[in-house]
Amino acid sequence: MPMKFINSATQVLYDMQQPIWLAPDGALLNCTLIDQFDPNKVLQYDTSIWRYATALPNIAPENRLRLGGGFTPLLPFNLKGKEVWFKHDYLFSTGSYKDRGAALLMSMVKEWGIQKVVQDSSGNAGCSIAAYAAAAGIECSIYIQQQTSLSKVTQMKAYGAHLVTIDGSREMVADAAMAAAKTDYYASHCWNPLFFQGTKTLAYEVCEQLGWQAPDAVVLPAGNGTLILGCSIGFTELFELGIIQKVPKLIAIQSEHCAPLATAFFAKNNAERFTQKPTIAEGIAIAKPIRGEQMITAVRSANGTFITVSEEDIIDAWKMCAQKGLYIEPTSAATVAGASIYALKFQSEKIVSVFTGTGLKATDTLKKSNLW
Ligand SMILES: Cc1ncc(COP(=O)(O)O)c(C=O)c1O
Repeated sequence: MPMKFINSATQVLYDMQQPIWLAPDGALLNCTLIDQFDPNKVLQYDTSIWRYATALPNIAPENRLRLGGGFTPLLPFNLKGKEVWFKHDYLFSTGSYKDRGAALLMSMVKEWGIQKVVQDSSGNAGCSIAAYAAAAGIECSIYIQQQTSLSKVTQMKAYGAHLVTIDGSREMVADAAMAAAKTDYYASHCWNPLFFQGTKTLAYEVCEQLGWQAPDAVVLPAGNGTLILGCSIGFTELFELGIIQKVPKLIAIQSEHCAPLATAFFAKNNAERFTQKPTIAEGIAIAKPIRGEQMITAVRSANGTFITVSEEDIIDAWKMCAQKGLYIEPTSAATVAGASIYALKFQSEKIVSVFTGTGLKATDTLKKSNLW
């Protein structure tokens, strides 16, 4: 059966020919799982997300956007004496793994013939959507907070995005974008289920790079869940099709300064609350993730857990990476810090994690932080 949208509450199916991002009753939309995929038919010459075209929504070849990046190296990295395998996803053309989701979503927008999209972002998702909108010749407005890093603002502007700066919280930015989405298509990395079809390619790449085997655990950031939910979909599909023998444990990393999901995951009662403080890991400073419940369910059903990391852990991990020649974003370093904590406890496991974003666009934050 071709992939369809599915209402997360009622399970009603919707054709992918209609450009929707939300169910008519306001429920979140997901996509149905694929029911066939042949690893022998992977497009070996193609290093973009379209390598796995047969596992993705049906989009005509002429509408499949590519900007370089994809099939990123999976390399061992020594974390306090334990070898952990890292996907080098900062190598995507805009500098982060968000290109996986944006490439898929904007290709579908192109296929539908939509002329204009809106989006809201703390930075990287906005850069990716703006870049792929430019590649498709589609107009794009990105809603951002006043404190969005100068490098990311400059990058979005360079791609020709129209920026709308909101003087308020991340939630107020999302509300403003949602209001604009009444007239223009919402290319949201949180609400739009197509984004997760792009990020699921990380799971496909990891399994292919390991000889169509799953690792024991995958350590991922937990902001809006674009990687956690994408990986949950990807590994589940491959497992249900009998291509891998297990779904790896999903280990979700949050900053101690913004840990709504870790708090809910370990809470003994619903009344437990978390207090938000500023964190250097801006990409995971999400107090109310739209798909928070889905993220907790994905982690639980993969026998995973949440780990929180302190600002000190993040800075130490960032410095350690830099000293080994890897210049990553502080948000990316939060995941490295979490992987380090996990790896210390589970020495015998094959663990995979991700360098999610380049440090080159966090220079302003890094400079202000006086890290060296
Ligand atoms: C570099 C980087 N890493 C990780 C994340 C976490 O995002 P998510 O939980 O949506 O995968 C973000 C989000 O913006 C990011 O920019």
